[in-house]
Amino acid sequence: MKNISIAIDGPASSGKSTVAKILASDFHFIYVDTGAMYRAVTFLSIKHNIAFSDESALANLTKRYPITFKPAGQGQLVFADGEEITQAIRQPDVTAAVSEVSAHGNVRKELVKAQRQLAETGGIVMDGRDIGTTVLPQAEVKIFLVASVEERAQRRYKENQEKGIEMDFEAIKEAIAKRDYLDSHREVSPLVQAADAVLVDTTGMSIEQVVTKIKEIITAKG
Ligand code: C5P
Repeated sequence: MKNISIAIDGPASSGKSTVAKILASDFHFIYVDTGAMYRAVTFLSIKHNIAFSDESALANLTKRYPITFKPAGQGQLVFADGEEITQAIRQPDVTAAVSEVSAHGNVRKELVKAQRQLAETGGIVMDGRDIGTTVLPQAEVKIFLVASVEERAQRRYKENQEKGIEMDFEAIKEAIAKRDYLDSHREVSPLVQAADAVLVDTTGMSIEQVVTKIKEIITAKG
């Protein structure tokens, strides 16, 4: 596989990170989870008592504490401000606030800079909300992954149970729908399908089927 860039965008819990990790491992590419970066800034804002509405303080925090990743088994560990925050950034308090934090243009500016640096070498699979539209508009392959909110909530519910995070199904469904709404309606880089992205609806599909489908799309692009 040539050192191309693959951008995978889509709403919450559409399977982006699972599929992106498998593709990166199969192609020996770097995987970058940009959602983890917005979650890390949200975690840091809670830790440092910064209001989610305080754009300039949040932008300074983002500049001050670089977020780093370290491969570990099938996934990767996330670090910032001298600690490992892989699990902490998945907790409900961070999930509930991340869309407010990620709506700030000056926070996005800092993280997009870091994301482009990570992608400089090519050979990358990056997932998020604005990768195909803003971060890597020149990406050779762009996928927009969607699934019904019902199915996405079911997947997240199962995932949470496996991780020992307690949250009832209806609350998860509501939280997903709210996050999608906020992410799609913000002014800066909203969640939207890039004009040249291929839409893949994963409702009713297994992970293996989604991976196969995306590999077919990559092959067809030559
Ligand atoms: O992908 P994940 O669900 O972990 O992303 C968490 C949140 O980070 C999203 O709901 C969105 O608010 C924000 N995000 C973003 N742009 C990205 C990736 C994530 O605004 N490229």
